[in-house]
Amino acid sequence: MAIQISVDGYAACGKSTLARGLADKLGFIYIDSGAMYRGITYYFLQQNISFDQVPSMEVMSEIEISFISPPGSHTPDQLLLNGVNINNHLRSQAVNEKVSTIAAMPVVRKYLVALQQNYGQEHNVVMDGRDIGNVVFPNAILKLFLTADIETRVKRRLLDLKSDSDLTYEQVKENLLYRDHIDSTRQDSPLRQSPDAVLIDNTNLTIKEQLEMVYTLALLRLKRLS
Ligand code: CDP
Repeated sequence: MAIQISVDGYAACGKSTLARGLADKLGFIYIDSGAMYRGITYYFLQQNISFDQVPSMEVMSEIEISFISPPGSHTPDQLLLNGVNINNHLRSQAVNEKVSTIAAMPVVRKYLVALQQNYGQEHNVVMDGRDIGNVVFPNAILKLFLTADIETRVKRRLLDLKSDSDLTYEQVKENLLYRDHIDSTRQDSPLRQSPDAVLIDNTNLTIKEQLEMVYTLALLRLKRLS
């Protein structure tokens, strides 16, 4: 039976860095569930579909989201939308502004959660997102919930974006807080720490320290299984 580890938490608090690092160390695959919500948002923008209405099943059935791995790697990290690699578009400001609206729609969540669960049935996986421990993999062997103070999160996101963007500190901060608010208050699968998740505030932790801590924890949990 495949093994799942979940990493949930607020926007830009280092979930993907940790989840990817942990997956590499354990030989699991890493799946970025946020990229899937971003992919659907990009589709809506591209097709000029209104964000004010719940999309029909017909619209949803026209969207195919999948991942491919770069050559030599077993971690799928390039997102395909109807067969086209759209990775470069996922972190645009237009997507940032609309993704939480899309992610609050139950029809979208139902569609993507099924896809995410498929990955978790077929592979040992570390998946990051907002509802992974609570909804997607309630039986994950290790659930992590990350947080960091907002100033640190804004600085990290600005570093991620580098010269690809001319967004100001205030604009990035506003978007992170806006998404956290919608993600935490939506009706379907709100962002909440699962009662059995380990809370990590990584404001003052380096990437390496955080990874070592979590890797040790994961090894302990895996040992319990054997
Ligand atoms: O990387 P960052 O923390 O900025 O966000 P992300 O993980 O790429 O997720 C983008 C958005 O997708 C979030 O703000 C949520 O609205 C949504 N999301 C979600 O609702 N459920 C998930 N499992 C993952 C992402």
